[in-house]
Amino acid sequence: MTSMAKFITFEGMDGAGKSTHLAWFADMLRQRGQDVIVTREPGGTPLGEQLREILLNQPMCIGTEAMLMFAARLEHIEQIIRPALGSGKWVISDRFSDASFAYQGGGRGMDWQKLEQLEQWVHPDLQPDLTLFFDVPVEIARQRLANNISLDRFEQEQTDFFERVRAGYHQRVKANPQRYAVIDAARSLEQVKQQLEAIIATL
Ligand code: TYD
Repeated sequence: MTSMAKFITFEGMDGAGKSTHLAWFADMLRQRGQDVIVTREPGGTPLGEQLREILLNQPMCIGTEAMLMFAARLEHIEQIIRPALGSGKWVISDRFSDASFAYQGGGRGMDWQKLEQLEQWVHPDLQPDLTLFFDVPVEIARQRLANNISLDRFEQEQTDFFERVRAGYHQRVKANPQRYAVIDAARSLEQVKQQLEAIIATL
């Protein structure tokens, strides 16, 4: 298959089910002959994974949290995302900048414009070709997380935090609807897969 390499991101609040579907989605693309790498944020590089460990466990002020997210992202873009796309590989990332707007902007209430400045600084000329946003009511996402034994610093947040995260995602989708496929993640795994298959057919 000779199509241009694509950069695809998966987004949604904790418990939306995006990680489960991401692995399956990547396999489907590989079966169609694409060379696909799967990566994640925060993380994706050795330094990024160290920053992830800190970000998920260590309390810090909001600005620090946002800047560390974008620092890990810059490393990720330069070391992994751009080289892979440049060599014709498709890149699927479990989260990217939309998560910073949703969590640090929506959830934590950080100034949206400051986040836009960080985004402009770190990737002025790069955006995902497609973002799959797994949208789910907060109560359902919380129920799905209820069985997890260890919850990180974000997953431990309360319902109102996640309502703001969801609203943050909606704000991003509204500003740029053509980049997103909104998945109704409250539906069954099988129904979601059907929607993903329809999306793959369009790629
Ligand atoms: P997550 O993908 O949920 O990891 P896991 O499935 O292993 O729990 O990501 C970790 C957390 O990081 C998640 O709660 C959201 C948060 N996060 C931000 O707050 N801002 C960001 O920019 C990114 C990329 C993630």
